[in-house]
Amino acid sequence: MAPPELDALGAAARALGRADLVVVATGAGMSRESGIPTFREALTGLWARFDPEEMATEQAFRRAPARVFGWYAWRRMVVRAAVPHAGYDAIVALERLLPEVLVVTQNVDGLHARAGSRRVVELHGSLERFRCLDAGHPYPADAVPEPATEGELAPPACPRCGAPIRPGVVWFGEVLPEREVALAWEAAARCAVMLVVGTSGLVQPAAALPRVARDAGAFVVEVNPEPSDVSPFATVVCRGSAGVVLPALVARMGGSA
Ligand code: APR
Repeated sequence: MAPPELDALGAAARALGRADLVVVATGAGMSRESGIPTFREALTGLWARFDPEEMATEQAFRRAPARVFGWYAWRRMVVRAAVPHAGYDAIVALERLLPEVLVVTQNVDGLHARAGSRRVVELHGSLERFRCLDAGHPYPADAVPEPATEGELAPPACPRCGAPIRPGVVWFGEVLPEREVALAWEAAARCAVMLVVGTSGLVQPAAALPRVARDAGAFVVEVNPEPSDVSPFATVVCRGSAGVVLPALVARMGGSA
């Protein structure tokens, strides 16, 4: 009798091999093996060092613009130095093996596109996008300085209206971008398989996607070393890390990352 995770891996590989559309829904755990801490890890998680209300809300930005802007500029610097791990390459390999793959990510680190994924929906925006706080005028990311150390950084002023420049990410309490939500929910309701990788399933509305897929009859595979709020909706659970499980999945399908 194969160990449970091998059965899950085999079942997931077979379901993927038959799939016309696969949605790969990823969270912060997908970037963990590229050295980017997840939000809710007890020790290294970013939230352990910062009070979320002090960082990821418009109110916090208006209250302490240099602290919030400095944190995002620092995270962008860390992410720019990160290298997509083998799990990212495995997703790109899936795109070569299967008719249609759509990546829907909660992450703002841009690693899927950097690894070569061609169809990526960023539900929570990107660390590489900036706009002004009041009118939403776009601001070139290359004009934003890369801080040498962690610390406060005064946001630039919008050249068109003078408002402070903010990160192009979705803050707590803000709505998700309409176009990305429509793409993600349409694909979730149509996909044959949803691979859910590295998310605790705690933050709505992104956390609803696995249930949308499952209710529409999809085969849902969770890839996570820990149980999560996604686990109850998973058809199979591959208890392991993204960097190990995803390449193993592709190998079981006869592909290579
Ligand atoms: N491989 C796969 N999953 C992993 C790995 C790994 N190597 N390491 C950790 N994980 C899992 C954790 O077990 C956890 O379930 O990744 C998940 C990370 O959960 P969170 O830190 O809550 O991140 P996420 O689910 O993406 O948070 C959602 O919340 O803070 C907001 O906007 C932010 O996009 C973020 C959203």
